[in-house]
Amino acid sequence: MNTPAERAVDSYRPRAAWARTESRPTTPRLLSPALDGAAHVAEFPCGPGHFLSTYAKAEVRVRLIDASWPMLTAAARHARDSGVAELAVECDFLHQLPALDDDLVVVPNAALNQLAAQDPLPPVLTHLRRAVNPGTRLLLQYLAGEASGAGCGFYTPALADSHTVVDHHIHTPDGTEVIRHRRQHHTPERDQVNIEFTYTVNNRPVRTTRVHLALPTAAQVQAALTATGWATTHAHTRAGFREVLATAGNSR
Ligand SMILES: C[S@@+](CC[C@H](N)C(=O)[O-])C[C@H]1O[C@@H](n2cnc3c(N)ncnc32)[C@H](O)[C@@H]1O
Repeated sequence: MNTPAERAVDSYRPRAAWARTESRPTTPRLLSPALDGAAHVAEFPCGPGHFLSTYAKAEVRVRLIDASWPMLTAAARHARDSGVAELAVECDFLHQLPALDDDLVVVPNAALNQLAAQDPLPPVLTHLRRAVNPGTRLLLQYLAGEASGAGCGFYTPALADSHTVVDHHIHTPDGTEVIRHRRQHHTPERDQVNIEFTYTVNNRPVRTTRVHLALPTAAQVQAALTATGWATTHAHTRAGFREVLATAGNSR
């Protein structure tokens, strides 16, 4: 395991079996305007799949992309169960994304924060820009560094560092009840956070995993979008997440 991206992706392998139950996505308010007129949608990195029922209702072709095969397998099953009729699945890292002919690319559930912890934001957004055609829409759902209060299902800005909370009861497909414990550590500048999840069964720890997130401010994301050829059309904050809808300009 060499690069931060490879290590991050590998950390999801043991989580894939119950990732669909573990994930509690918040549907972005901007998803509906983003889907307006779209026929082909890509979700990247999709993890276990996020807004699949909404895509199914919109009757769009869905392309699920992630560098983890176990997560893609879970996502593909999730898509079928959600009624997605036309599905494509691709196993790619960000830096290897193929040319995408989709009308909309959705980067869900703080995935941007994870990508930006592997590489600075401008290269991350440049990889996305190079993969798509001019006019393609990009919907980012991320955690902004200045966020306070509510947070989301896996991050609480106000939680004191090192303080452990029980934040999730997971019922795995084989009927086991897994309890997820979470604690977090910020960098002194609070521009990055490491979140540690420990899973217990019958009060015994069975696994610990860590997620490393960058916490860029909304202004930093905006500046990086502009610098890499994206024009923002809408922005919104919902349930701890910042949402941005942008369109690819002509130059790559
Ligand atoms: C949707 S994101 C973050 C989800 C959420 N923050 C959590 O950890 O519960 C997680 C997914 O991103 C994928 N991923 C992470 N880094 C990647 C990269 N550089 N290229 C492709 N996929 C990546 C992982 O394989 C995983 O399935």
